[in-house]
Amino acid sequence: MKLRERVEKFTDSMELVSQLLVVEMLLITAATATPQAKDGCQHQCGDYEIPFPFGTTPACYLNEDFLITCNQTYNPPKPFLRKTLNPVTHISVDGQLQVLSTVAKDCNGGGVTSGNLESKFDLKKFSISNNDNKFTVIGCKSYGTIQGGKSGRSFLTGCISLCDDIKDVENGSCTGAGCCQIDIPRGLQHINFTAYSFDDEDNVSKFNNNCTYAFVVAKSKFSFSSSYLNNLPNDKFPIVLDWTITGDGNCTERSNKSDNACNENAVCYVPKDQQRSGYRCKCKDGYQGNPYLSHGCLDINECENSTLNDCVYGHICENTEGSYRCRCRKGYHGDGRRGGEGCFANPFSVTVIVLGTGILFLVLLCSSSWLYLMWKKRKLDKLKENNIVNDGNKKQLEAVGKLATMCASLNREERPTMREVAMELERLIMMHGHNLQDNVELRAAVSK
Ligand SMILES: *[C@@H]1O[C@H](CO)[C@@H](O)[C@H](O)[C@H]1NC(C)=O
Ligand SMILES: *[C@@H]1O[C@H](CO)[C@@H](O)[C@H](O)[C@H]1NC(C)=O
Ligand SMILES: *[C@@H]1O[C@H](CO)[C@@H](O)[C@H](O)[C@H]1NC(C)=O
Ligand SMILES: *[C@@H]1O[C@H](CO)[C@@H](O)[C@H](O)[C@H]1NC(C)=O
Ligand SMILES: *[C@@H]1O[C@H](CO)[C@@H](O)[C@H](O)[C@H]1NC(C)=O
Ligand SMILES: *[C@@H]1O[C@H](CO)[C@@H](O)[C@H](O)[C@H]1NC(C)=O
Ligand SMILES: *[C@@H]1O[C@H](CO)[C@@H](O)[C@H](O)[C@H]1NC(C)=O
Ligand SMILES: *[C@@H]1O[C@H](CO)[C@@H](O)[C@H](O)[C@H]1NC(C)=O
Repeated sequence: MKLRERVEKFTDSMELVSQLLVVEMLLITAATATPQAKDGCQHQCGDYEIPFPFGTTPACYLNEDFLITCNQTYNPPKPFLRKTLNPVTHISVDGQLQVLSTVAKDCNGGGVTSGNLESKFDLKKFSISNNDNKFTVIGCKSYGTIQGGKSGRSFLTGCISLCDDIKDVENGSCTGAGCCQIDIPRGLQHINFTAYSFDDEDNVSKFNNNCTYAFVVAKSKFSFSSSYLNNLPNDKFPIVLDWTITGDGNCTERSNKSDNACNENAVCYVPKDQQRSGYRCKCKDGYQGNPYLSHGCLDINECENSTLNDCVYGHICENTEGSYRCRCRKGYHGDGRRGGEGCFANPFSVTVIVLGTGILFLVLLCSSSWLYLMWKKRKLDKLKENNIVNDGNKKQLEAVGKLATMCASLNREERPTMREVAMELERLIMMHGHNLQDNVELRAAVSK
């Protein structure tokens, strides 16, 4: 047992060492290989990543829709979407990007209007994400409108914000007192929005600067504060745009083409709720990276991060291409998964105890019955040895002797008649037969 334990400990530690080596090797490769842009292309502008299909030159983007203008006159340099004045603040390969959009502003003190009342946004191939943005109006005698268009149809909507008393205004709440918000329709590709103040010569309040602000903003990037009624700190807000690959067929049409935008270990899909053409690519399960790049989707090492695998802690997780395997350490069995069988210690010692006692019991049983048999045999042998002088035989011998002397007698009168001799012999035979019977019985008992 001691030796076995030692051997187990040794193999365990060897396994750990080899696992650590594997992990280190993977960390080295992971650190060097997360390609985002095409080879030889600028993959960053200032603090921002520019993943393919976006790029700064024709050789680096998929098509003109994905042009990013990196303006080097800023420090750090600033990326802009195409040739617009909208700075890009984030690009993700899952089909969204964030750009800054201007605020429409109407300041109407004593009926005199000033400010940049209207703001426009034209996206061409991209659309404004309806899930991630809100149209927002801030002010105390204010309303704002948003107009937009998609595939030849247009729409118009807006909201009103009033506040006579600061007590009605709540931080984080845009329900009409100081701030109002509305959802915007799906798939808008161009919008213009306008800020208005109700013409009112009243000096509204001390807590409002008489201005109305109207803008579209990423829900996650904006939270209303009552202080904005006096001073809105930003003149631009981030908005979320959806993008797809368009103009060169859908997933089905392109699936056979060698220039399919989706590369190895990536799949093509059409976004849900999509109201226009286009498709996206995503890495298959178990891979991560840029699905638009050749060799852009890399295997995820699920074993490095316990939230990505369900292997029982302290046992073995083996990374495989696109997946992973769980195993139990030596001396354990099971599927090695937290939600599954887990790992149990092999019932090694129990087996030994059960088998050992079993064998011991059998040996005891066999040897005791063997001893018993030997004892019986010896008894029988003794019986056989003394057979000649037992009682029955003694009588037989005496009787035979008597008969012999009788027969040897010369005296005629004393000489037994043939009948007497026959009777005596019959008696002897009967006695002999009885003895024989005894022996048969003994033998049967022994054999039992
Ligand atoms: C870069 O930004 C500066 C300042 O806004 C502007 O004058 C210039 O035209 C821009 N350059 C390009 C290439 O857009
Ligand atoms: C609102 O406008 C009036 C009229 O121009 C002005 O007197 C007042 O100071 C303004 N309020 C604020 C907070 O600026
Ligand atoms: C809202 O928060 C600001 C600070 O962010 C605070 O000055 C203001 O008093 C708050 N307004 C209300 C109505 O709670
Ligand atoms: C807003 O845009 C629509 C078309 O998208 C246009 O008809 C409308 O005149 C624009 N509004 C203003 C105030 O320019
Ligand atoms: C608005 O402000 C102006 C200038 O401060 C003042 O003359 C006027 O009386 C105020 N109007 C109201 C309704 O308070
Ligand atoms: C892809 O395009 C083909 C041809 O234009 C069309 O028949 C097919 O329905 C389209 N498939 C999808 C999923 O849009
Ligand atoms: C793609 O290829 C398969 C077989 O190679 C064929 O059956 C299918 O029609 C092709 N699809 C298109 C859209 O060309
Ligand atoms: C592990 O994976 C989870 C889920 O993807 C992620 O949130 C977390 O940051 C990862 N942890 C490490 C250390 O990489």
